[in-house]
Order: sequence, then structure tokens, then C-alpha cells
Amino acid sequence: MDQETRIALTKRVFEHLENKSTDKADAIMRNPASAYTSPDRLAREQEILFRREPLLITLSCQMPTPGDYVTDDNTGVPILVVRGDDGAVRAFLNVCQHRASRLVEGSGHLRKNLICPYHAWSFDRSGKFAHAPAKEDFSGFDFDNCALTELPSAECDGLIWVQPEGTGSLDIDHHLAGLAPEIASYGFADYHHYETREINCAMNWKTIIDTFLEPYHFATLHKTTVGPLLFGNLCLMDAFGRNLRETLPRRTIVELKDQPEQDWDLIWHTAMVYVLFPNTVFVMQRDHAEVWRCFPVDDDPAKSRVLMEFYIPEAIPNKKALLHWQKNMDMTVRTVLDEDFPVGEGAQINLATGALESVVYGRNEPALVHFQRMVNEAVGS
Ligand code: FES
Ligand SMILES: [Fe+2]
Repeated sequence: MDQETRIALTKRVFEHLENKSTDKADAIMRNPASAYTSPDRLAREQEILFRREPLLITLSCQMPTPGDYVTDDNTGVPILVVRGDDGAVRAFLNVCQHRASRLVEGSGHLRKNLICPYHAWSFDRSGKFAHAPAKEDFSGFDFDNCALTELPSAECDGLIWVQPEGTGSLDIDHHLAGLAPEIASYGFADYHHYETREINCAMNWKTIIDTFLEPYHFATLHKTTVGPLLFGNLCLMDAFGRNLRETLPRRTIVELKDQPEQDWDLIWHTAMVYVLFPNTVFVMQRDHAEVWRCFPVDDDPAKSRVLMEFYIPEAIPNKKALLHWQKNMDMTVRTVLDEDFPVGEGAQINLATGALESVVYGRNEPALVHFQRMVNEAVGS
């Protein structure tokens, strides 16, 4: 984030502190309970949002070297991402062209070709067919045209994106609608992966994202965790197309009043929450980044999975640093997993009973309003 933006955002925070106010949505929003409970609605979301939009799959630092690969099955499409010998990242279906066996599992490094575990057909690291044992027994089969099925993918500023369906290339600058330079400024390509946790939730996938989109609940739900650290009911919201940036000021931000504007380090005094549409929440937490990738599970609107990934700016140099990161991770777990998620799961049960026809988002929850509006628009609700 450039200094000009840091200064402008800090001034907006100071104004709100003075006026005891916050950024506001134009109006309240009612969202039908069915947005969280309807299987038909979920089917549309899966078809449109989880198949035909670029999705953040991983960070470049997870697969820096030619031959590194990751797989992802969270969208119902078996995705395989490989860094080729030319350094470029490509995405494929993780499906052998012989009889559809999965080629690899998890993540790792290919010493040379991808070799199918079933009959050993092999494909090079750019997806081209390389070799099949007893090839002569397949006379009439067009081996020249049996490369792995490629999916649209892109690597930009340390982030790797894949669209699970379709052909052609991805325009991530267009997708991020003006947010790309700010994302680039964090230098994620040089970050290090610290830990990933996979959490299965008994609530709609959007509820996981809702959790991050208003500080209105901090003073009550988080009174002993992040409540004392961050201002409750004070946020800035800036939309970037369908994406958004929500600035959540820490109480320490008032220290900046005594410093010259050119030194204002807003990132140190906030939790900076980004929604990368449709399903990723990116949180800059002072000296590290959290990535929350949220997915529906099966065809059940009340089931979801979140991959919580923790990235840090340097490899862990010593035990003191390790303790520091563990402490950070513990705070996140206590706040989100132990406090936010149980509330979301309880609300999901209540909504399924038909107790409310709709939920309401206040004007003081502008990020929540924007996100839910963008989802509704995308799926035609
Ligand atoms: S299914 Fe892959 S080689 Fe047979
Ligand atoms: Fe929360």
C-alpha cells in the first residue's frame, strides 16, 4: 500500500474517532435466509462462482521451483498446478488421459515427468504426453493430441489463480479491479508458508466470510481476545469492483497522531481485510498474512470447508521467532475458530428451522453489505 493511501485511510480513521462514527453502507440490506439455506441457491453459486471465476489456489512461495506442484479438490474439479521447466505455472485436470486415474496427490516436487501410478503413462511438466509402455498396442489412438487438459491459470504478484472451467487466459488485473498494485506492494512472492489448517464447518461458506466483514461484534463476542486490541464498530470500507478492502483500526493507531504523516505505518496499526471475490479472505496482520479460502462442501448449504493459511515474511530463524508465530496463530484460532465459528454454526441451525425469513445487515456493516450484494448479483438473486 502506498504512503498516500496510508495517510488518507489514517485520516479517515481519525475523523471517525473524533465523531464516534464509522463508514456506512447507503442503506440496510435484508438478505433472504435462503441465501444461506437453499440447495438451489448453492447449486447456482457452485456453478457460477466456483467454476467460472478465477479462484486463488495458492501463493507462489508454496511452489517456487520448476517441478513443484499442488493439487486442489475443493471445487469438485480435480485441479493440478505445476511449475514448468520454463518457470511458468500451468493448471491441468489431475486426470490421466488413459483411464482417468489421478496423477498425483497433495503437493510436492516432480523430479522429471508426471507418471501415472496406474500404467505409467507419463506427461512432461508442461502437460504434454511423453511416454506410454507398450504404446504399439494402442494403434489408432492419437498420442499427439493427448496432453493433459489445461485450465485457465495465472500467476500475479505472488498469487496463483485457477479457473476450474473454461479455456483461454485469465485477466487478474481486471478481476482485481484496481486492487492489484496494492496486493503487489506486500511482496507475497517472498513470503514463507508457516502453517495450513483445514477446518470443516457446519455452516454456509459465506458465513465464514461474513465473520470478517464487520467489527460491530468485537466488543461483545471478542471481549477477551481481539476486542481490547481493535476498535469495535469502526471500519473503513473501499470497494474494488466485486472485491473489497476493510480497514479495521487497532487502538494503537492513535500513536500516529504524534508522528509525521510520511512515517504513518497504517499496516502496523490495523488488521487489513481484503475479500478477493468470490471466496478468499486475505488479512494483513501487521507482520504476517492470513489467507482464508472458503468452499461449499457436497451439495449441502450448511456444510463448508475453510483452508486457513498462515504466511510469514521470513523463514523461522530461531525459537523466539517460532514462539512469536505460535502466539499469533493461537490468537487467531481462539478468536475465529473458538468464538466466531460456533456463533455462525448456531445461526445456520436457526435459519434452517425457518425462524427468520431474512437476516439484516446494518449500515454500519458496509463490507458485509457489499460482499453479499456482489454474490447475489453474480448468481442472479
Ligand atoms: S490410467 Fe493412467 S496410465 Fe492408465
Ligand atoms: Fe469475529
